[in-house]
Amino acid sequence: MTTILRRKKEHYKLRCFGCKALYDIDDYGKFYRCAKCGNLLEVKRDTFWLREDIDKTLLRYPEGVWRYFDLIPLWEESNIVTLGEGNTNLIDCKNLARVFGIKSLHVKFEGLNPTGSFKDRGMTAGVSKAVELGYKMVMCASTGNTSASLAAYSARANLQCIVLVPKGKIAMGKIAQAIAYGAKIYQVDGNFDDSLRMASKICEQNNKILLLNSLNPFRIEGQKTVAFEIVEQLGRTVPDVVVLPVGNGGNITAVWKGFSEIFEIGLESTVGRHIGERPPKLIGIQAEGAAPIAKAFKKGLRDSFEPVEDPHTEASAINIGSPVSWMKALAAIYESGGRSDSVTDDEIFAAQKLLASTEGIFVEPASAAPIAYISKVSRAREAFAKEFEELTNSNVVCICTGNGLKDPNALLKGMKPDQLETISAEESSLQKVLA
Ligand code: F0G
Repeated sequence: MTTILRRKKEHYKLRCFGCKALYDIDDYGKFYRCAKCGNLLEVKRDTFWLREDIDKTLLRYPEGVWRYFDLIPLWEESNIVTLGEGNTNLIDCKNLARVFGIKSLHVKFEGLNPTGSFKDRGMTAGVSKAVELGYKMVMCASTGNTSASLAAYSARANLQCIVLVPKGKIAMGKIAQAIAYGAKIYQVDGNFDDSLRMASKICEQNNKILLLNSLNPFRIEGQKTVAFEIVEQLGRTVPDVVVLPVGNGGNITAVWKGFSEIFEIGLESTVGRHIGERPPKLIGIQAEGAAPIAKAFKKGLRDSFEPVEDPHTEASAINIGSPVSWMKALAAIYESGGRSDSVTDDEIFAAQKLLASTEGIFVEPASAAPIAYISKVSRAREAFAKEFEELTNSNVVCICTGNGLKDPNALLKGMKPDQLETISAEESSLQKVLA
C-alpha cells in the first residue's frame, strides 16, 4: 500500500483556476491563491496514472465519502477524520414529480449527514488534510452549516476551531451545534462576506491557522463524492439534470468536478459505464435578494460578476453577496450546459412545505430553493416553455443540502406550540374534533 500512496502524491498538483500555474499540493496553507494572478486553486490529478491503477485501488471502504479514498488527495489512511459522512439517501419523489408534471425527480437528502448538511463531505476531507499537514488550529467564516461541521470534525481531531458568523444572521440550531462541539465563536457585526474577508486575511497572515472555507480545494475533493454516489444510486446511470442551491459557489464547483471526473477518468468499473452519455446539466439556484451568480448568468458574464452589496434572504445559509468561488461556479454552469436562476423567499418557503408534506422530507430553507425553482417553472410553464420541456423529459436530481431541524424558526415564523388547536384530555373532545 505504501508504494501506491507514495506514487499517488507525485500525481497530484495544485493548479490555478485562472492562469493554470502549478504548485506543490502539500504547500497549501502557506498560500491560498495563485501567486501569479490571485485566482483560486484546484486539485489537479494526472489522469493517466489513475486510468491504469483505478481498478486496483478504488472503493477502499464499503460506503460514504471514503469509499472514494483513492480519488481524494490524502496520503495516509491513518489521517482520516470521519463521522461516517456521505451515503445519504437518494429519494425517489414520485408524488412531487406528479405534482410538477415531470418524468422523474429524486432528492439527494444531504441533511442526513452527521451534522445535518452536505458540508460534512468536504470537512472530513479538509480536516483530515489539516491533520496530515500538521495544523493544530483551523478557522472558517460561515452562514451556519460550515461552522457546525468544522466544529464537529475539529473536536474529533482535537484541533482548535475558530468560527466567524454574521451576527443575528444564522439559524440558532447551527449556533447550538458549534457551541456544543466546542468551537470558539465570534459574531461579526457585518455580513458573511465581511466575515470571510476577515478570516481569509488572518489565515493568509498566520501560517499556523488553516482556512477551511470552500475555497480550500481539499473541501471540494470531499464534496465531489456526492456526484459519484448519485450515479451509483441511480443504478450506475447519470442523471440528465441536477438542481442545487448556490451561495458561495463551492458546492456547484464540487458537483461539477465529481461528474467531470466520472467521464474524464473513466470510472467504468466503479460508478458505472457511461460511454456515449454526458455529464448532467447543472442548474444553480439562488435566493432573489442574494443572486449575483444568477444575474451574471443572465447577462452572459463568465469572467466577471457584480457583487450584491447588501444581500438579503431568509434562507440564511445562502445569504451571500460576493461568492468567493464565483468563477468556478459560472464555469460549472456554462460547461455543463446548465443555467442559473433565482427564486423569492415566499417561493422557497412554499417549496419547503410542499416537499415535507408530499414526500416527508424536511429541509432547511436554502435547500428548498431547487424545489422552488422546479415549482416555478412548472406553474409558469408557458413563460418557461423551454425549461419546462427539458425538465419534463429528464431524470432530475435535486440536491437538498441541509436538514430542516437546524432552523425550525424559519418555518414556524414566530408560531408557538400553544397556538395549535388544544383539546381536553378526554376521548369525547377528540371525537368531537374528528366528527
Ligand atoms: N445549502 C446550504 C444548506 C448551505 O449551508 C450552503 C452554504 C449552501 C447551500 C450553498 O453552498 O456556498 O457551496 O454554494 N453554506 C455556507 C456555510 C456558506 O457557511 O455554511 P455553497
